[in-house]
Amino acid sequence: MNLVMENISFAYNSQTEVLSDFNLTINDGEMVAIIGHNGSGKSTIAKLIIGLLKPDKGNIYVDGELLTEDTVEKVRRKVGIIFQNPDNQFVGVTVKDDIAFGLENHMIPRDEMIRRINHYAGMVNMLPYLEKNPEQLSGGQKQRVAIAGVLAMETEMIIFDEATSMLDPLGTKQINETISQLKNNQNKTLINITHNLEEAALADRIVVLSKGKIILDGTPREVFSHKDLLEANGLGVIDSIKLINEVQKYSIRRKQELVDELWKLTFEK
Ligand SMILES: Nc1ncnc2c1ncn2[C@@H]1O[C@H](COP(=O)(O)OP(=O)(O)O)[C@@H](O)[C@H]1O
Ligand SMILES: [Mg+2]
Repeated sequence: MNLVMENISFAYNSQTEVLSDFNLTINDGEMVAIIGHNGSGKSTIAKLIIGLLKPDKGNIYVDGELLTEDTVEKVRRKVGIIFQNPDNQFVGVTVKDDIAFGLENHMIPRDEMIRRINHYAGMVNMLPYLEKNPEQLSGGQKQRVAIAGVLAMETEMIIFDEATSMLDPLGTKQINETISQLKNNQNKTLINITHNLEEAALADRIVVLSKGKIILDGTPREVFSHKDLLEANGLGVIDSIKLINEVQKYSIRRKQELVDELWKLTFEK
């Protein structure tokens, strides 16, 4: 499923435009990381894509279909979103109810609902918790349940909006493993909005935003080679990239081979 954002302008109020003449195309099956400092417009983009916000100018096409008030319901069946704070995503008395919530709204038959709950709870390793109260779960577990709920909707595109930013390193690692599985086994189109550059490195492509503009767009290796521009935009590069930059300064034997090897290690998926 592909996504086209074409000449989008958007302002929350008349003083400041968050996006002006913004263009972004995401191809079918692509995993794109969107990075940028706080306030650069990342969540605004996510909300425009699922029709929670309406552009002042420009068009959004989801799977070739123009997003309008008439098509927004249809689009939401194709695009799932997971937000930053798992606490705000819970409604049910049990984990099972939570995963079932969206399915009930879409009147999925009961047998199919049970199949999906079990399948997707299993995928995020939450099967033993189905009867538990979501309140009793850790942040990482809550976020995995939220992901199972979105996966159960079987949308073709999933947006993660800083889905790991509230989690500890273990929780973050588990979510990233789930995202990698989605990418490798299910051919979903994925947008991962993140502050974590190591996470961004797992994507096929990284889009770097600054004040609502795309300042870099390329493979992780291409984007991370612009270390100074990233740092100027408040995005500290990860340690292995710093190491690569250090190595580049020295005249050592087989330097290029070493640098290539370090890049490979950094971006191994
Ligand atoms: N509901 C809102 N009302 C007014 N301004 C907002 C609202 N939400 C976000 N903004 C402003 O829009 C800009 C982009 O915000 P956002 O898309 O949330 O950025 P990011 O997700 O990259 O941190 C920021 O300047 C922010 O203050
Ligand atoms: Mg945000």
